[in-house]
Amino acid sequence: MLEVRDLTVRYGALEAIRDISFSVDEGEIVALIGSNGAGKSTTLRAIVGLVSAAGGSTSFDGKEITQLNSAARVRSGIALSPEGRRLFGRMSVQDNLLTGAYAVRPRSVIGQMLDEIYDLFPRVRERRRQLAGSLSGGEQQMVAIGRALMAHPRLLMLDEPSLGIAPKVVGEIAHAIQRINKEKGMSIILVEQNARLALRLSHNAYALEHGEVVRSGRGHELLEDPFVQKAYLGV
Ligand SMILES: Nc1ncnc2c1ncn2[C@@H]1O[C@H](COP(=O)(O)OP(=O)(O)OP(=O)(O)O)[C@@H](O)[C@H]1O
Ligand SMILES: [Mg+2]
Repeated sequence: MLEVRDLTVRYGALEAIRDISFSVDEGEIVALIGSNGAGKSTTLRAIVGLVSAAGGSTSFDGKEITQLNSAARVRSGIALSPEGRRLFGRMSVQDNLLTGAYAVRPRSVIGQMLDEIYDLFPRVRERRRQLAGSLSGGEQQMVAIGRALMAHPRLLMLDEPSLGIAPKVVGEIAHAIQRINKEKGMSIILVEQNARLALRLSHNAYALEHGEVVRSGRGHELLEDPFVQKAYLGV
């Protein structure tokens, strides 16, 4: 479904990622793990077109999207829930969710999409009229995932959904990620510094270091890989 080939991104003189290649199949959860600055967020931003690639190509559903702008990529079915959530704190929760649906046609399905998100995250339904900035970190993360879902994607990209969130809520979010994948058959790219969580949830996984892929395999296989255990799992 998604094919990333030799993707390279530079910020000025800094090469943030270099010749990254990986693919995501229909219905698959793919984890990208790696430490601070490894290039995980840059990879997601390049896939959704928020930064431009200095080299390489990206195709989605067999179509080259390398030349498309970000809005066109979102319309084609790719959505990103960014690192740090980036909600509008002084807007209501529901209005934040609605900002994710700007590209959705027909508009008549929007009410149903809101309902599905509220079923996935009942706490978000309870708080839908509150200002987003008044929610806990975990609740805000749920809203950020919901906002990406409002774009009605077939590929959902989640950048650090567990970052700074209480362990109990991390469990709820992990459960929601599995439900989105199983019940809707949605493909997911999960970026996490919590490598153990990401590898447990994923079908396939890639480890990035200094902007390059250094390991790849089935998620459960990488959990047993001595290199991965030493570098990312604190074993
Ligand atoms: N807007 C930017 N301008 C300049 N350099 C950047 C920019 N964004 C990221 N970088 C640099 O690119 C490299 C990769 O950063 P990136 O944010 O992709 O890493 P990451 O794996 O997501 O890290 P983290 O786990 O801390 O979120 C880092 O060296 C970072 O400092
Ligand atoms: Mg990041």
